[in-house]
Amino acid sequence: GRRVEWPLRPPVVCVMGHVDHGKTTLLDALRQSEVAAAEAGGITQRLGAFHIPGVGEGGEEGGLGITVLDTPGHAAFKAMRMHGALATDIVLLVVSATDGLQEQTLEVLRMLEEQWAEEEEDFRMQRGGEGGKMEVFSPSLSLMVAVTKVDKLHGEEEMQAALSKIEHALAAHGIMSEALGGDVQVVPVSAVTGAGLPDLLDRVRLQAEMLELRADREGPGEGVILDAGMERGFGMVMSVLMRWGSLVQGDVVVAGEQWGRVKKILGARNSPGKDGEGGGAVDRALPSMPVRVLGLRDLPTPGQEVIVVKSEERAEAVAKARREAAERRRY
Ligand code: GTP
Ligand code: NA
Ligand code: MG
Repeated sequence: GRRVEWPLRPPVVCVMGHVDHGKTTLLDALRQSEVAAAEAGGITQRLGAFHIPGVGEGGEEGGLGITVLDTPGHAAFKAMRMHGALATDIVLLVVSATDGLQEQTLEVLRMLEEQWAEEEEDFRMQRGGEGGKMEVFSPSLSLMVAVTKVDKLHGEEEMQAALSKIEHALAAHGIMSEALGGDVQVVPVSAVTGAGLPDLLDRVRLQAEMLELRADREGPGEGVILDAGMERGFGMVMSVLMRWGSLVQGDVVVAGEQWGRVKKILGARNSPGKDGEGGGAVDRALPSMPVRVLGLRDLPTPGQEVIVVKSEERAEAVAKARREAAERRRY
């Protein structure tokens, strides 16, 4: 959505890449947290969602901030990566400077290629076939690349060689970096020394400004389910990334094939809030906000959408219709 009367919303950046290339550590360095150190076996096993605050003119907090999704790189978690990508504006592909493009890096590139091809096809259909109009197709999902662990390289020469190797490997998959005449930004960084981190954040913010992301905050809320499960002390919790409108306590929602009345809304697990690490209570969930929602009757399926509806009767009917449609698809 681009209508100017809608307020700007924060960009959603999905961090993707091969296992152990440094996604979580990079995010820790960007937001001064220590998520990676607490992970079992050093492997990310769920979709993390949190917010990096914006900066005001004098460097203080303010502005829109950035919503970040941290995806697992382990081969087994493809579905989770795709759920992250579904809700995203910018894919930040993380590539280790020493390891280069690996299997899950290529998986991300294939995913982007499919997504772009689909959007381009839709674009063409809406305009009734090839050519004709002067309008230019612009994909809704944009790509940036962070080449990380550059502290492991020795000297400028090794750095240039590593970057060039990665840029040529990307080019072989149709991703053209600025250095090779394209428009994909490739930013060298180190989570250990902090090199390149301010530059990376600046570029993400600039990219988001160019995308001019807007959403209505007033209408009934819509979002994507990132995760759902039992949480100690809370019972059934679903993590949702809001995309449109607003969600408040007491709203009736259809979540995938399930429904419920929102009992409580909490911030994302790793966001600071009134309850500290757990993410505090939130009065109103707005576009681009990752939140945890309590009050569902059964566990919904990640990757499916959440919508606010008018009544419990309506919710029950929509959920039932979706279940039946899914049932039919299985035969
Ligand atoms: P998965 O989520 O399991 O796919 O891994 P990941 O991509 O999140 O990587 P993670 O942050 O777990 O880091 C993997 C290893 O690389 C850890 O041992 C980190 O300490 C190390 N590492 C990450 N970034 C850097 C970096 O900039 N420099 C160096 N030297 N090591 C790094
Ligand atoms: Na890891
Ligand atoms: Mg990780």
